[in-house]
Amino acid sequence: MNPAERRALVEEEFRQRFGHAPTLWAQAPGRVDLMGNHTDYNEGYVMTMAIDRNTWLAARPRKDRKVAIFSLNVEGGGEFNLDDIRRDEISPWTNYVRGVATVFQDEGFTLHGFDGLVHSTIPFGSGLSSSAGLEVVTATLLKMLADTWHIDPVRLARLCQRAENEFVGMNCGVLDQYSSALGQAGHSLLLDCRELTHRTASIPEGLKVVICDTRIERELTGSEYGERRAQCEEGVQRLAEFYPAATHLRDLSLAQLREHEAALPAVVAKRCRFIIEENQRVLDLGEALSADDRTAIRALTEGSYLGARDLYEIISPATEPMIQAILEAPGTVGARQAGAGFGGCMVAFVEARSAEVFAEFVRTRYQAETTITPEVYPVQAAPGAGPLGFPE
Ligand code: GLA
Repeated sequence: MNPAERRALVEEEFRQRFGHAPTLWAQAPGRVDLMGNHTDYNEGYVMTMAIDRNTWLAARPRKDRKVAIFSLNVEGGGEFNLDDIRRDEISPWTNYVRGVATVFQDEGFTLHGFDGLVHSTIPFGSGLSSSAGLEVVTATLLKMLADTWHIDPVRLARLCQRAENEFVGMNCGVLDQYSSALGQAGHSLLLDCRELTHRTASIPEGLKVVICDTRIERELTGSEYGERRAQCEEGVQRLAEFYPAATHLRDLSLAQLREHEAALPAVVAKRCRFIIEENQRVLDLGEALSADDRTAIRALTEGSYLGARDLYEIISPATEPMIQAILEAPGTVGARQAGAGFGGCMVAFVEARSAEVFAEFVRTRYQAETTITPEVYPVQAAPGAGPLGFPE
């Protein structure tokens, strides 16, 4: 579907549902991390990229304090009052919208009611941040409706993260919301999760970033994510006895970890080692991309994948056939687990000239092994959230 067709689809559905046309349009992209699993809540680094899969929100202001929110992708939806926002257990996806509205009001922003219709091309539960897309597009629209807010995109991202932490109940880091709010067309971002700043990095011309979606869904509010976070925190706490300045794993080197590894439970030591190594790999990937050093890209992605599998233990065994297929495919430079893990997507660097044969090979091989039809497609670095303009 091209953007004109997509717009026509959303507009038609909007008219049918609300009896009038939308007047405001906003978009927020999904993201893929090119390096840096679980480094964000350890105040470390991530190489991230907003992608050309996004969430649109078409809207029209209302005179009352109500928000009516529906989606073309998911059933349910409904109305809520900005003066009495509650969690919705029947249409839980609306909690991202409700959560953002709650947090922005708590922070003193004036909100206006609206009729809204969501349409997303970010697959759900794949590790490409469909949730952050919905949060950030909501915040973007609320800002457009008010027209008097002054908020920089970093704060907007932080408040969306807070909505997810406090209202939705998923204790994520800032990676997804930051990427969605601050993405840049044509560039990946080397994000510093402590400073909340980034510098841009380019993907070498001859390479494509290809998403290899296993179609094995993750469930993130499950215990695994929180457990990994707690293990990292325990690691820092114990190591801070030797290095009092350390507040996060970001502050520790591999040599420091080795020196006192015996003071940690074995599983905690593994988790800490992965994060410390993965942080360094993010910085190294920055160098490797600017030097177009494919040998280094291959070694770094391999290190990330193996660490995610053996140390951080976030690779679901069901996804092994995907990495096997990728590694055997023509044109592969390297690949690793994207997002939080436990299923979801792998991300591969592929020789641009081989991208199509690569995709065909991976699809066929993975399907033959698993009987699951995967999604394999290249992505481009896309701009961060904002109003959506249409050429007239
Ligand atoms: C999820 C979380 C992010 C981040 C990644 C793992 O996407 O929402 O904050 O922790 O997992 O890197």
